Amino acid sequence: MTKTFFIETWGCQMNDLDSQRLSGSLKLRGYRRVDTEGEADLILLNTCSIRDKSEQKVFSHLGRLREMKSERELQIGVCGCVAQQEGEAILHRAPWVDFVMGPGNVGHLDQILSGDRRVAIDFPEDRNYDYLAIDRPSATKAQVTIIEGCNKNCTFCIVPTTRGREVSRPFDDVLREVRAAVDSGRVEIELLGQTVNAYRCPITGRDFGTLLSAVAKIDRVARLRFMTSHPAEVNDSMITAMRDHENISRYLHLPVQSGSSKILRRMKRLYTREHYLETIARIREAIPEIHFSTDVIVGFPGETDDDFEQTLSLIEKVRYGSMFAFKYSPRPGTPALKIGAPVDDAIASERLTRVFDLHERIKREHLESYRGRVLPVLVEGPSKHDASMLTGRTDYNIVVNFSTASAPAAVPPGSMLGVRIDQAQHHTLRGEAVA
Ligand code: 5AD
Repeated sequence: MTKTFFIETWGCQMNDLDSQRLSGSLKLRGYRRVDTEGEADLILLNTCSIRDKSEQKVFSHLGRLREMKSERELQIGVCGCVAQQEGEAILHRAPWVDFVMGPGNVGHLDQILSGDRRVAIDFPEDRNYDYLAIDRPSATKAQVTIIEGCNKNCTFCIVPTTRGREVSRPFDDVLREVRAAVDSGRVEIELLGQTVNAYRCPITGRDFGTLLSAVAKIDRVARLRFMTSHPAEVNDSMITAMRDHENISRYLHLPVQSGSSKILRRMKRLYTREHYLETIARIREAIPEIHFSTDVIVGFPGETDDDFEQTLSLIEKVRYGSMFAFKYSPRPGTPALKIGAPVDDAIASERLTRVFDLHERIKREHLESYRGRVLPVLVEGPSKHDASMLTGRTDYNIVVNFSTASAPAAVPPGSMLGVRIDQAQHHTLRGEAVA
Protein backbone atom coordinates (compact mmCIF):
# COMPACT_ATOMS: atom_id res chain seq x y z
CA MET A 1 0.00 0.00 0.00
CA THR A 2 1.27 3.49 -0.76
CA LYS A 3 2.44 5.40 2.24
CA THR A 4 0.98 8.80 2.95
CA PHE A 5 2.51 11.97 4.37
CA PHE A 6 1.53 15.30 5.83
CA ILE A 7 3.80 18.32 6.34
CA GLU A 8 3.07 21.13 8.78
CA THR A 9 5.11 24.26 8.04
CA TRP A 10 5.93 27.24 10.24
CA GLY A 11 8.14 30.24 9.61
CA CYS A 12 9.72 31.96 6.66
CA GLN A 13 9.70 31.52 2.88
CA MET A 14 12.80 29.36 3.11
CA ASN A 15 10.88 26.92 5.26
CA ASP A 16 7.96 26.97 2.82
CA LEU A 17 10.32 26.07 0.05
CA ASP A 18 12.02 23.37 2.12
CA SER A 19 8.58 21.82 2.64
CA GLN A 20 7.98 21.91 -1.11
CA ARG A 21 11.30 20.14 -1.60
CA LEU A 22 10.51 17.51 1.07
CA SER A 23 7.09 16.95 -0.42
CA GLY A 24 8.53 16.58 -3.92
CA SER A 25 11.13 14.08 -2.82
CA LEU A 26 8.57 12.02 -0.89
CA LYS A 27 6.34 11.88 -3.96
CA LEU A 28 9.31 10.67 -6.02
CA ARG A 29 9.62 7.85 -3.50
CA GLY A 30 6.02 6.87 -4.06
CA TYR A 31 4.45 8.57 -1.06
CA ARG A 32 1.09 10.26 -1.46
CA ARG A 33 0.31 13.62 0.17
CA VAL A 34 -2.82 13.83 2.33
CA ASP A 35 -4.67 16.84 3.70
CA THR A 36 -4.93 15.89 7.36
CA GLU A 37 -2.58 14.47 9.97
CA GLY A 38 -5.16 11.79 10.78
CA GLU A 39 -4.65 10.12 7.38
CA ALA A 40 -0.86 10.26 7.37
CA ASP A 41 1.68 7.48 7.92
CA LEU A 42 4.45 10.06 8.10
CA ILE A 43 4.12 13.52 9.67
CA LEU A 44 6.86 16.09 9.21
CA LEU A 45 6.91 19.23 11.31
CA ASN A 46 8.94 21.85 9.51
CA THR A 47 9.69 24.16 12.38
CA CYS A 48 10.76 27.74 13.07
CA SER A 49 12.85 29.01 15.99
CA ILE A 50 13.18 32.69 15.14
CA ARG A 51 11.28 33.64 18.30
CA ASP A 52 10.49 31.73 21.48
CA LYS A 53 6.78 31.52 20.63
CA SER A 54 7.45 29.74 17.36
CA GLU A 55 9.42 27.15 19.27
CA GLN A 56 6.78 26.57 21.93
CA LYS A 57 4.20 25.86 19.25
CA VAL A 58 6.30 22.94 18.05
CA PHE A 59 6.47 21.26 21.43
CA SER A 60 2.78 21.63 22.13
CA HIS A 61 2.07 20.18 18.70
CA LEU A 62 4.37 17.25 19.46
CA GLY A 63 2.35 16.64 22.61
CA ARG A 64 -0.78 16.12 20.51
CA LEU A 65 1.02 13.84 18.08
CA ARG A 66 2.11 11.62 20.96
CA GLU A 67 -1.51 10.64 21.55
CA MET A 68 -2.09 10.02 17.90
CA LYS A 69 0.94 7.77 17.80
CA SER A 70 -0.24 5.74 20.80
CA GLU A 71 -3.25 4.68 18.74
CA ARG A 72 -1.70 3.69 15.45
CA GLU A 73 1.38 3.19 13.29
CA LEU A 74 2.91 6.62 12.69
CA GLN A 75 6.31 8.06 11.88
CA ILE A 76 7.12 11.57 13.11
CA GLY A 77 9.98 13.74 11.90
CA VAL A 78 11.00 17.13 13.24
CA CYS A 79 12.63 19.26 10.53
CA GLY A 80 13.62 22.88 10.17
CA CYS A 81 15.20 25.30 12.58
CA VAL A 82 14.05 23.86 15.92
CA ALA A 83 15.48 20.54 14.75
CA GLN A 84 18.77 22.24 13.95
CA GLN A 85 18.89 24.14 17.19
CA GLU A 86 17.82 21.38 19.60
CA GLY A 87 19.09 18.29 17.75
CA GLU A 88 19.34 15.20 19.93
CA ALA A 89 17.61 17.03 22.80
CA ILE A 90 14.30 16.72 20.96
CA LEU A 91 14.54 12.93 21.22
CA HIS A 92 15.00 13.21 24.98
CA ARG A 93 12.15 15.62 25.43
CA ALA A 94 9.84 13.86 22.98
CA PRO A 95 11.05 10.25 22.61
CA TRP A 96 8.10 9.43 20.35
CA VAL A 97 9.78 11.46 17.60
CA ASP A 98 11.38 9.16 15.01
CA PHE A 99 13.95 11.51 13.53
CA VAL A 100 15.32 15.03 13.66
CA MET A 101 16.56 16.70 10.50
CA GLY A 102 17.94 20.22 10.04
CA PRO A 103 17.60 22.53 7.01
CA GLY A 104 21.00 21.46 5.66
CA ASN A 105 19.67 17.93 5.11
CA VAL A 106 16.51 18.57 3.13
CA GLY A 107 18.24 17.05 0.10
CA HIS A 108 19.19 13.92 2.04
CA LEU A 109 15.80 12.73 3.20
CA ASP A 110 16.33 9.19 1.89
CA GLN A 111 19.27 8.54 4.26
CA ILE A 112 16.94 9.37 7.06
CA LEU A 113 13.88 7.48 5.86
CA SER A 114 16.00 4.39 5.33
CA GLY A 115 16.76 4.52 9.03
CA ASP A 116 20.49 5.21 8.57
CA ARG A 117 20.39 8.39 10.62
CA ARG A 118 18.09 9.51 13.38
CA VAL A 119 19.62 12.93 13.94
CA ALA A 120 20.87 14.79 10.87
CA ILE A 121 21.89 18.31 11.74
CA ASP A 122 25.10 18.86 9.83
CA PHE A 123 25.58 21.05 6.78
CA PRO A 124 26.86 18.63 4.13
CA GLU A 125 29.09 20.08 1.38
CA ASP A 126 26.79 18.56 -1.18
CA ARG A 127 23.31 19.92 -0.52
CA ASN A 128 21.67 17.74 -3.18
CA TYR A 129 19.35 20.30 -4.69
CA ASP A 130 16.88 18.51 -6.96
CA TYR A 131 14.85 21.41 -8.34
CA LEU A 132 12.84 19.25 -10.71
CA ALA A 133 11.37 17.47 -7.71
CA ILE A 134 10.00 20.57 -5.98
CA ASP A 135 6.28 20.22 -5.29
CA ARG A 136 5.19 23.81 -5.99
CA PRO A 137 1.75 24.67 -4.60
CA SER A 138 1.08 27.51 -7.04
CA ALA A 139 0.52 27.11 -10.77
CA THR A 140 1.76 30.65 -11.45
CA LYS A 141 4.54 31.27 -8.91
CA ALA A 142 7.85 29.62 -8.12
CA GLN A 143 10.25 30.34 -5.32
CA VAL A 144 13.88 29.73 -6.15
CA THR A 145 16.64 29.61 -3.53
CA ILE A 146 19.79 31.42 -4.63
CA ILE A 147 21.69 31.56 -1.34
CA GLU A 148 21.34 29.59 1.88
CA GLY A 149 22.53 30.52 5.36
CA CYS A 150 23.75 33.86 6.66
CA ASN A 151 27.18 35.34 7.43
CA LYS A 152 25.86 38.40 9.21
CA ASN A 153 25.94 37.98 12.92
CA CYS A 154 23.10 40.14 14.13
CA THR A 155 23.27 39.77 17.88
CA PHE A 156 19.57 38.88 18.29
CA CYS A 157 19.38 36.29 15.56
CA ILE A 158 19.40 32.49 15.63
CA VAL A 159 19.63 32.05 11.83
CA PRO A 160 23.45 31.70 11.63
CA THR A 161 23.08 28.69 13.97
CA THR A 162 20.04 27.14 12.32
CA ARG A 163 20.88 27.69 8.68
CA GLY A 164 24.65 27.80 8.75
CA ARG A 165 27.15 29.86 6.79
CA GLU A 166 26.26 31.42 3.46
CA VAL A 167 26.38 29.17 0.43
CA SER A 168 25.39 30.65 -2.95
CA ARG A 169 24.20 28.41 -5.74
CA PRO A 170 26.01 28.56 -9.07
CA PHE A 171 24.60 31.21 -11.43
CA ASP A 172 23.77 28.75 -14.20
CA ASP A 173 21.98 26.40 -11.82
CA VAL A 174 19.69 29.23 -10.80
CA LEU A 175 18.98 30.15 -14.43
CA ARG A 176 18.24 26.52 -15.28
CA GLU A 177 15.79 26.25 -12.42
CA VAL A 178 14.04 29.48 -13.41
CA ARG A 179 13.71 28.30 -17.02
CA ALA A 180 12.23 25.01 -15.88
CA ALA A 181 9.77 26.87 -13.63
CA VAL A 182 8.72 29.20 -16.44
CA ASP A 183 8.30 26.23 -18.78
CA SER A 184 5.80 24.81 -16.31
CA GLY A 185 3.78 28.04 -16.32
CA ARG A 186 5.28 29.73 -13.23
CA VAL A 187 5.69 33.21 -14.67
CA GLU A 188 6.23 34.85 -11.29
CA ILE A 189 9.63 34.09 -9.82
CA GLU A 190 10.71 34.86 -6.27
CA LEU A 191 14.42 34.54 -5.53
CA LEU A 192 15.04 33.53 -1.93
CA GLY A 193 17.82 33.87 0.57
CA GLN A 194 18.18 34.89 4.19
CA THR A 195 20.42 37.65 2.84
CA VAL A 196 19.48 37.40 -0.80
CA ASN A 197 21.50 40.38 -1.98
CA ALA A 198 24.75 38.95 -0.59
CA TYR A 199 24.55 36.45 -3.47
CA ARG A 200 27.83 35.75 -5.23
CA CYS A 201 28.25 32.96 -7.77
CA PRO A 202 30.76 30.49 -6.27
CA ILE A 203 32.20 29.79 -9.72
CA THR A 204 32.29 33.15 -11.49
CA GLY A 205 31.89 35.67 -8.67
CA ARG A 206 28.95 37.36 -10.41
CA ASP A 207 26.88 39.39 -7.97
CA PHE A 208 23.21 39.72 -7.12
CA GLY A 209 22.47 42.57 -9.53
CA THR A 210 23.95 40.56 -12.40
CA LEU A 211 21.82 37.58 -11.45
CA LEU A 212 18.69 39.75 -11.20
CA SER A 213 19.24 41.09 -14.74
CA ALA A 214 19.89 37.63 -16.14
CA VAL A 215 16.71 36.21 -14.57
CA ALA A 216 14.65 39.24 -15.65
CA LYS A 217 15.74 38.63 -19.26
CA ILE A 218 14.49 35.05 -19.32
CA ASP A 219 11.61 34.82 -21.74
CA ARG A 220 8.14 34.94 -20.10
CA VAL A 221 9.27 35.91 -16.62
CA ALA A 222 6.36 38.26 -16.01
CA ARG A 223 7.32 39.32 -12.52
CA LEU A 224 10.48 38.94 -10.51
CA ARG A 225 10.68 39.39 -6.74
CA PHE A 226 13.29 38.61 -4.13
CA MET A 227 13.47 38.26 -0.36
CA THR A 228 15.17 39.24 2.02
CA SER A 229 17.67 42.02 1.34
CA HIS A 230 20.11 43.30 3.92
CA PRO A 231 20.45 47.11 3.92
CA ALA A 232 24.26 46.95 4.12
CA GLU A 233 24.38 44.80 0.96
CA VAL A 234 22.38 47.16 -1.26
CA ASN A 235 24.62 48.33 -4.09
CA ASP A 236 24.43 50.10 -7.46
CA SER A 237 24.45 46.88 -9.43
CA MET A 238 21.26 45.79 -7.68
CA ILE A 239 19.57 49.19 -7.97
CA THR A 240 20.42 49.49 -11.66
CA ALA A 241 19.04 46.03 -12.39
CA MET A 242 15.78 46.93 -10.65
CA ARG A 243 15.57 50.22 -12.51
CA ASP A 244 16.30 48.75 -15.93
CA HIS A 245 13.94 45.77 -15.92
CA GLU A 246 10.24 46.44 -15.87
CA ASN A 247 9.42 42.93 -14.78
CA ILE A 248 11.34 43.33 -11.51
CA SER A 249 8.86 44.40 -8.82
CA ARG A 250 8.98 47.98 -7.70
CA TYR A 251 8.96 46.63 -4.19
CA LEU A 252 11.75 46.04 -1.72
CA HIS A 253 11.65 44.38 1.68
CA LEU A 254 14.45 46.04 3.62
CA PRO A 255 14.37 45.15 7.33
CA VAL A 256 15.53 48.07 9.44
CA GLN A 257 14.94 46.49 12.90
CA SER A 258 15.39 49.82 14.72
CA GLY A 259 15.52 53.53 13.94
CA SER A 260 18.17 54.23 16.58
CA SER A 261 21.83 54.07 15.62
CA LYS A 262 22.71 53.10 19.17
CA ILE A 263 20.44 50.05 19.05
CA LEU A 264 21.53 49.20 15.51
CA ARG A 265 25.11 49.09 16.72
CA ARG A 266 24.16 46.78 19.58
CA MET A 267 22.29 44.61 17.11
CA LYS A 268 25.37 44.61 14.88
CA ARG A 269 23.32 45.53 11.84
CA LEU A 270 26.33 47.16 10.11
CA TYR A 271 24.51 50.42 9.26
CA THR A 272 23.34 53.54 11.08
CA ARG A 273 19.98 55.25 10.90
CA GLU A 274 21.51 57.85 8.55
CA HIS A 275 23.08 55.23 6.34
CA TYR A 276 19.77 53.35 6.08
CA LEU A 277 17.86 56.51 5.16
CA GLU A 278 20.50 57.39 2.57
CA THR A 279 20.11 53.94 1.05
CA ILE A 280 16.33 54.44 0.84
CA ALA A 281 16.85 57.86 -0.78
CA ARG A 282 19.34 56.47 -3.27
CA ILE A 283 16.91 53.74 -4.34
CA ARG A 284 14.01 56.19 -4.55
CA GLU A 285 16.05 58.48 -6.72
CA ALA A 286 16.66 55.70 -9.23
CA ILE A 287 13.16 54.17 -8.97
CA PRO A 288 10.72 56.85 -7.80
CA GLU A 289 7.65 54.56 -7.72
CA ILE A 290 9.29 51.98 -5.43
CA HIS A 291 7.55 50.72 -2.29
CA PHE A 292 9.32 49.49 0.78
CA SER A 293 8.41 47.06 3.50
CA THR A 294 10.34 46.26 6.66
CA ASP A 295 10.77 44.31 9.89
CA VAL A 296 11.06 46.02 13.26
CA ILE A 297 12.06 44.67 16.66
CA VAL A 298 10.93 46.52 19.79
CA GLY A 299 12.25 46.04 23.31
CA PHE A 300 15.81 45.11 22.42
CA PRO A 301 18.09 45.32 25.53
CA GLY A 302 18.82 48.97 26.28
CA GLU A 303 16.07 50.44 24.07
CA THR A 304 14.98 53.69 25.75
CA ASP A 305 11.87 55.76 25.00
CA ASP A 306 14.05 57.98 22.89
CA ASP A 307 15.43 55.05 20.86
CA PHE A 308 11.91 53.84 20.31
CA GLU A 309 10.70 57.29 19.21
CA GLN A 310 13.44 57.19 16.59
CA THR A 311 12.01 53.94 15.26
CA LEU A 312 8.58 55.57 14.94
CA SER A 313 10.02 58.61 13.20
CA LEU A 314 11.92 56.42 10.76
CA ILE A 315 8.74 54.52 9.90
CA GLU A 316 7.00 57.86 9.28
CA LYS A 317 9.86 58.99 7.05
CA VAL A 318 10.06 55.89 4.88
CA ARG A 319 6.27 55.34 4.77
CA TYR A 320 6.46 51.58 4.40
CA GLY A 321 3.66 50.01 2.41
CA SER A 322 3.75 47.04 4.75
CA MET A 323 5.72 45.93 7.75
CA PHE A 324 6.19 43.27 10.38
CA ALA A 325 6.97 44.12 13.98
CA PHE A 326 8.06 41.84 16.79
CA LYS A 327 8.88 42.00 20.47
CA TYR A 328 12.50 41.07 21.04
CA SER A 329 12.75 37.42 22.01
CA PRO A 330 16.01 36.18 23.60
CA ARG A 331 17.42 33.25 21.60
CA PRO A 332 19.76 30.55 22.94
CA GLY A 333 23.43 31.13 22.24
CA THR A 334 23.00 34.58 20.68
CA PRO A 335 25.36 37.44 21.64
CA ALA A 336 22.48 39.73 22.64
CA LEU A 337 21.97 37.62 25.77
CA LYS A 338 25.13 39.21 27.16
CA ILE A 339 24.08 42.78 26.34
CA GLY A 340 21.53 42.91 29.13
CA ALA A 341 17.95 42.22 30.04
CA PRO A 342 15.22 42.87 27.48
CA VAL A 343 12.97 45.85 28.08
CA ASP A 344 10.16 45.26 30.57
CA ASP A 345 7.48 43.19 28.87
CA ALA A 346 4.63 45.63 29.49
CA ILE A 347 6.64 48.46 27.95
CA ALA A 348 7.65 46.32 24.98
CA SER A 349 4.00 45.37 24.41
CA GLU A 350 2.96 48.98 24.49
CA ARG A 351 5.68 49.88 21.99
CA LEU A 352 4.56 47.10 19.72
CA THR A 353 1.00 48.43 19.79
CA ARG A 354 2.20 51.90 18.93
CA VAL A 355 4.16 50.58 15.93
CA PHE A 356 1.09 48.69 14.72
CA ASP A 357 -1.15 51.75 15.15
CA LEU A 358 1.21 53.98 13.24
CA HIS A 359 1.55 51.46 10.52
CA GLU A 360 -2.22 50.93 10.24
CA ARG A 361 -2.57 54.62 9.51
CA ILE A 362 0.18 54.67 6.88
CA LYS A 363 -1.12 51.51 5.24
CA ARG A 364 -4.67 52.92 5.08
CA GLU A 365 -3.33 56.03 3.34
CA HIS A 366 -1.39 53.85 0.90
CA LEU A 367 -4.36 51.67 0.01
CA GLU A 368 -6.65 54.71 -0.35
CA SER A 369 -4.15 56.35 -2.70
CA TYR A 370 -4.75 53.59 -5.27
CA ARG A 371 -8.43 54.38 -5.67
CA GLY A 372 -9.23 55.35 -9.25
CA ARG A 373 -5.84 54.19 -10.56
CA VAL A 374 -5.27 51.37 -13.01
CA LEU A 375 -2.67 48.92 -11.64
CA PRO A 376 -1.04 45.98 -13.43
CA VAL A 377 -2.24 42.80 -11.73
CA LEU A 378 -0.81 39.32 -12.15
CA VAL A 379 -3.80 36.98 -12.13
CA GLU A 380 -3.71 34.00 -9.75
CA GLY A 381 -7.17 32.51 -10.28
CA PRO A 382 -10.76 32.70 -9.00
CA SER A 383 -11.26 34.59 -5.74
CA LYS A 384 -11.72 32.31 -2.73
CA HIS A 385 -14.58 34.37 -1.33
CA ASP A 386 -16.51 35.13 -4.49
CA ALA A 387 -16.28 32.78 -7.45
CA SER A 388 -17.53 35.45 -9.84
CA MET A 389 -14.34 37.42 -9.20
CA LEU A 390 -10.70 36.84 -9.90
CA THR A 391 -7.79 37.45 -7.59
CA GLY A 392 -4.24 38.57 -8.25
CA ARG A 393 -1.49 40.78 -6.91
CA THR A 394 -0.06 44.17 -7.71
CA ASP A 395 3.60 44.81 -8.19
CA TYR A 396 3.68 45.83 -4.51
CA ASN A 397 2.31 42.41 -3.54
CA ILE A 398 -1.12 43.68 -2.53
CA VAL A 399 -4.01 41.29 -3.17
CA VAL A 400 -6.60 42.64 -5.62
CA ASN A 401 -10.00 41.03 -6.09
CA PHE A 402 -11.65 42.14 -9.28
CA SER A 403 -14.51 41.53 -11.64
CA THR A 404 -13.89 40.93 -15.31
CA ALA A 405 -17.12 42.20 -16.89
CA SER A 406 -15.20 44.33 -19.38
CA ALA A 407 -12.13 42.10 -19.68
CA PRO A 408 -11.24 39.90 -22.65
CA ALA A 409 -13.23 36.64 -22.48
CA ALA A 410 -10.89 34.27 -20.67
CA VAL A 411 -8.25 35.45 -18.22
CA PRO A 412 -6.03 32.48 -17.43
CA PRO A 413 -3.89 32.41 -14.28
CA GLY A 414 -0.51 33.93 -15.00
CA SER A 415 -1.80 36.72 -17.25
CA MET A 416 -1.08 40.36 -16.54
CA LEU A 417 -4.05 42.67 -16.60
CA GLY A 418 -4.88 46.32 -15.89
CA VAL A 419 -7.34 46.66 -13.00
CA ARG A 420 -9.06 49.93 -12.09
CA ILE A 421 -9.18 50.13 -8.29
CA ASP A 422 -12.49 51.29 -6.85
CA GLN A 423 -12.27 50.23 -3.22
CA ALA A 424 -9.63 49.85 -0.52
CA GLN A 425 -10.50 47.17 2.01
CA HIS A 426 -8.70 46.25 5.20
CA HIS A 427 -5.68 44.59 3.60
CA THR A 428 -6.79 44.22 0.02
CA LEU A 429 -8.06 46.18 -2.96
CA ARG A 430 -11.14 45.69 -5.13
CA GLY A 431 -11.61 46.74 -8.69
CA GLU A 432 -12.59 45.96 -12.21
CA ALA A 433 -10.42 44.72 -15.05
CA VAL A 434 -10.15 47.25 -17.85
CA ALA A 435 -10.45 46.21 -21.46
N1 5AD B 1 13.39 38.46 18.49
C1 5AD B 1 12.41 39.13 17.82
N2 5AD B 1 12.37 39.23 16.50
C2 5AD B 1 13.35 38.62 15.79
N3 5AD B 1 13.58 38.56 14.46
C3 5AD B 1 14.68 37.83 14.27
N4 5AD B 1 15.19 37.42 15.45
C4 5AD B 1 14.38 37.91 16.41
C5 5AD B 1 14.38 37.85 17.83
N5 5AD B 1 15.34 37.21 18.50
C6 5AD B 1 12.75 39.24 13.47
C7 5AD B 1 13.56 40.25 12.68
C8 5AD B 1 13.72 39.57 11.35
C9 5AD B 1 12.45 38.79 11.25
C10 5AD B 1 12.45 37.68 10.25
O1 5AD B 1 12.26 38.28 12.53
O2 5AD B 1 12.79 41.43 12.55
O3 5AD B 1 13.90 40.48 10.28
